[in-house]
Amino acid sequence: MKRYHVQTFGCQMNVHDSERIKGLLESLGMGEARDQGEADVLVFNTCTIREKADDRFVAHLMEARAAKQRDPEKRIVVGGCWSESMKQELFDLYPFVDLAFGPGAIHKLGDYIAAGGDLPEGHFSTFDHFAGHLPGKRERRHQAWLQISQGCNSKCSYCIVPSVRGREQSRSLEDLVGEARRLAADGVRELTLLGQNVNSWGRDLPAGQRAGFGGLLRHLDQVDGIARIRFTSPHPKDMRDDVIAAMAECESVCEHLHLPLQSGSTRVLKAMRRTYSAERYLSLVGRIRAAIPGIALTTDIIVGFPGETEADFEQTMEVVDAVGYDHAFTFVYSPRRGTEAAAMAEQVAEHVKRDRITRLVDLVQRHAAEHNAALVGSVQEVLVEGPSRTDPSMLRGRTRGNKTTLFRGDAGEGELALVEILRSTSQTLGGRPAVIAAA
Ligand code: 5AD
Ligand code: SF4
Repeated sequence: MKRYHVQTFGCQMNVHDSERIKGLLESLGMGEARDQGEADVLVFNTCTIREKADDRFVAHLMEARAAKQRDPEKRIVVGGCWSESMKQELFDLYPFVDLAFGPGAIHKLGDYIAAGGDLPEGHFSTFDHFAGHLPGKRERRHQAWLQISQGCNSKCSYCIVPSVRGREQSRSLEDLVGEARRLAADGVRELTLLGQNVNSWGRDLPAGQRAGFGGLLRHLDQVDGIARIRFTSPHPKDMRDDVIAAMAECESVCEHLHLPLQSGSTRVLKAMRRTYSAERYLSLVGRIRAAIPGIALTTDIIVGFPGETEADFEQTMEVVDAVGYDHAFTFVYSPRRGTEAAAMAEQVAEHVKRDRITRLVDLVQRHAAEHNAALVGSVQEVLVEGPSRTDPSMLRGRTRGNKTTLFRGDAGEGELALVEILRSTSQTLGGRPAVIAAA
């Protein structure tokens, strides 16, 4: 049996795409190799979050080249966003690569393998199928991603995604509900809806099929067996009242929202083409908290966008302080090929960006620790993911607010356990099985 190995870089969308790549290769009769060395087909699913290719990726790619020199039968395949951003240039830099494709063209890998490695040379990037139609291989039996859309119609000036993942295309409601039912029947309890901009879902569908993202949540909430629904990432501009109402009313939709802020300065937001102001973002947060008390809020923030002054950065700190996030992913701005911001004149000096991100991370961690400490003494529903990696005598899982929780107990993977929270840090909660008094 021929064997494959897939190595993944980047975001959840890529983790999901890799599951499709694995499922596809297995449907063609291949098996998973334990490591790169044992594989006949070496796949790299790349990310382009940095301008330069990821150093780890390049190191592994060079190992793959050495392995191919020893055994010329090996095939090296590079998929994903970085691959897409490079196109033909990738073959000039790394001529030993056999096949390259972008995130919308995973099925080309299937065609290539099915044809015995005989495909016309070149880079495949057209988007014509949802990877959702391909078989998948889930890492966990009880958790699944559900890709609801592909691509993005926004024009955030820092972002390379629209150019590598194309315009937004939504999967139909029927398709999504069908897949959710199949996944539930296969043991899935938690669904994470994925899209570059999940809450603009459906606008490109034919008139009779536009249920809106709120409508989609309501339909998926009805699927038996799905206990939890999450989604990532929404855009604040599309966070309409009907979406908030659906979140509040649907039992399975978790009390957690990842709402990218990017900057707290309205001037910088404008240059970023985010289409909302700091004030509008804050009033949105107010409406969300009023509708869903206790909801956990997380975000993405970029520091050092071109032209960001100390005053702009302080406004970001003020918004972060006013919202008090449960967690934030913080990024130092880095120019990406072909984006509008990369050509802007006033790039911020590296040491200034470093100083700002350190201050921001401190503030974010202080809020995270406070939020977690406030949960001590409460009882949380935890979806068990299995034993803790650091201490196998403990179970690890997540609360509905998406907090990693460690506790001693005998619940199995995929079960929901009630846990009394006894300890907290800025990163995790710790507790014990809750004793529920009989009513
Ligand atoms: N520089 C830094 N961070 C970026 N992000 C997107 N593009 C850039 C960039 N050029 C961040 C945004 C986005 C997250 C996934 O990555 O915060 O929400
Ligand atoms: Fe994900 Fe963006 Fe990286 Fe692509 S470039 S893998 S969409 S983070």
